[in-house]
Amino acid sequence: MSGSGPDHVLVTGGAGYIGSHACKALKAAGFVPVTFDNLVTGWQEAVKFGPFVQGDLLDRAAVDAAFAAWKPVAVMHFAALSQVGESMSQPGKYWRNNVLGSLNLIEAACAAGCLDFVFSSTCATYGDQDNVVLDEGTAQHPINAYGASKRAIEDVLRDFGVSHGLRSVIFRYFNVAGGDPDAEVGEFHRPETHLIPLMLDAIDGRRGALTIFGTDYPTPDGTCIRDYVHVCDLVDAHVLGLRWLQANKGSRVFNLGTGTGFSVREVVAASRSVTNRDVPMVEGPRRAGDCTKLVSGSTRAAAELGWTPHRSDMATMIADAWRWHQSGHYSR
Ligand code: UFG
Repeated sequence: MSGSGPDHVLVTGGAGYIGSHACKALKAAGFVPVTFDNLVTGWQEAVKFGPFVQGDLLDRAAVDAAFAAWKPVAVMHFAALSQVGESMSQPGKYWRNNVLGSLNLIEAACAAGCLDFVFSSTCATYGDQDNVVLDEGTAQHPINAYGASKRAIEDVLRDFGVSHGLRSVIFRYFNVAGGDPDAEVGEFHRPETHLIPLMLDAIDGRRGALTIFGTDYPTPDGTCIRDYVHVCDLVDAHVLGLRWLQANKGSRVFNLGTGTGFSVREVVAASRSVTNRDVPMVEGPRRAGDCTKLVSGSTRAAAELGWTPHRSDMATMIADAWRWHQSGHYSR
């Protein structure tokens, strides 16, 4: 805590799915989360836990002004475009928004002397390495522009660590799922592309049947395998990462996954059981860009941050997502 009250943390993308949950966790941990968001994919109604600055990371003056106004002690950087398919058809949009926006933010943070930086990266930076244990030392070979843009930002953070003493914790997420158990905030994308919210929409008739993308993968049931982690556990790791930065001198990379993989069919079966409803679905072809299996092979976050996921069992993730799904959504 600073002399003038609780510490402020600048949360880019604080109006989005993961960022809004992070704001709730930061507030509970005694920080003031200051959301900086352009509302292109975020929702103003999701900004409930601290001040809001509407701005774009590509507007360097707006970013500088936010540092000057709020004097944050740290940055949590979630703001990004994150649709893998779109990143392949419009790579310029991803490189400009994600990489140039992050560069503005990193330069502004360094100029303001705000040198603790928590970054939202992704297992998509590893690419398709089906028979490799994915830990933080695994070589990164992204197969889409989204993953490539995130890896580039990791490189920028390392370079500014050398040149400006910027300290970073980089989290490489696996598949984030679930929602706030109180349903104050939750997952809501427009358009929606993620398995669990699409499945819940299909279950309650908000859209047609779920399409299973590919049933001929070399997995036990033919469908892709992912490592799902509850958003509340994920953001708890961010608070631990922030504390780590405040107590340590260096920078560190952590995978955030549970190490357990679920196939698409297994997620469908769990949803059927949690909601006690049928899941309308059809089998379709593979989706371009999908890896067969992405499961974290790392225990570093547990060992070094003391991170223990509490809600990342599949039934709890789906139950929390279902509660939010039924409680209403944001709107514009
Ligand atoms: N899936 C379907 N039908 C759907 C939607 C998804 O079968 O309608 C399947 C996908 O093929 C995949 C699994 O469900 O096998 C999970 O798909 P999601 O779209 O929910 O998640 P992804 O694994 O594609 O993407 C997630 C993040 C990305 C990140 C990526 C890393 O959402 O931001 O992991 O691979 F880049």
